[in-house]
Amino acid sequence: MTPISGRLTGKVAIVTGGGAGIGEAISKKFAKEGAFVVVAGFAEDPVGQVVEEIVAAGGRAVAFTGDISHEQTAQACVQAAVDQFGKLDVLVNNAGVFPATSTLDKYPTEAFEYMIKNNIYSNFMMTRAALPYLQKTRGNIVSAGSEAGHMGEPQNTPYGGTKGFVHAFQRGVAVEQAKFGVRSNIVGPGPIDTAWTHKETGPMDSKMEKLTVQGVPLGRRGTAEEVANVYAFLASDEASYVTGATYFVDGGVTISKGPHGDEVPSDLAKEPEGVLALEHEKDGHTEIRQQDAGHMA
Ligand SMILES: NC(=O)c1ccc[n+]([C@@H]2O[C@H](COP(=O)([O-])OP(=O)(O)OC[C@H]3O[C@@H](n4cnc5c(N)ncnc54)[C@H](O)[C@@H]3O)[C@@H](O)[C@H]2O)c1
Repeated sequence: MTPISGRLTGKVAIVTGGGAGIGEAISKKFAKEGAFVVVAGFAEDPVGQVVEEIVAAGGRAVAFTGDISHEQTAQACVQAAVDQFGKLDVLVNNAGVFPATSTLDKYPTEAFEYMIKNNIYSNFMMTRAALPYLQKTRGNIVSAGSEAGHMGEPQNTPYGGTKGFVHAFQRGVAVEQAKFGVRSNIVGPGPIDTAWTHKETGPMDSKMEKLTVQGVPLGRRGTAEEVANVYAFLASDEASYVTGATYFVDGGVTISKGPHGDEVPSDLAKEPEGVLALEHEKDGHTEIRQQDAGHMA
């Protein structure tokens, strides 16, 4: 990894949920493109390991641990980036949770509240805390939405609802903050190859897992790296005229009319190997955890 003249050279970025899954790939991709990265996650998340790997590969990164859905922790996270690197150019609101699947009549209140906290509060708190610094650099925000936030998600209806909030909220931010030169965009992943979409490591049962992949016209899950590539574009100056947009990285599932994936030949449905070292793909956050206080890691 030689961060000499990447598309994010000299930019300072915070990646929330950067210790696992898609966030790990975003952190490594951004570092590879020359950004200084604050890798933020819960204390239990392997953010320190991701930082070590970025630094060992020649990049620059620091870890921040804490629950960024809390106002003071979100402010501390933004302050850590500014203290460490002198400014903030990019906020990636990637942190999120997907703790349960069930029809709505049996859906646990605890899981609903957990998503409100980690999918909605975290996005709001981080965005509000970051804006004064993003206005100074004419920076930008890229947030994790979901195809579920656009279309709804059977078997986890409140999840789609929380992502619908992210879509509408950040479109409003895009319009409101344009006069300060701040852009805001949304990445809407389809089923990605992280802990969430495997019955062994996430809350999907085998039927839901199968239907999820069958519904994808490209016939497979996306990789975390394929999603990170789109984040890197939107965060870069190459996307200077893109704001308020939602980029679906979903293999076509959002516009799909049914289960096409099982018609795709196996050689076409094979995932690309990629170039980033991503050992934590299955280390995601799929259970309900206690809150932790924020501190520099
Ligand atoms: N995996 C998919 O198929 C998929 C599909 C659509 C959207 N997404 C979105 O992409 C994002 C990443 O998903 P993933 O599959 O990589 O998940 P993941 O569980 O692998 O990673 C998410 C990380 O965010 C952290 N996190 C959550 N809430 C936090 C908080 N309040 N403070 C600090 N850290 C917090 C978790 O601990 C975890 O490490 C999520 O926002 C998710 O909604 C994922």
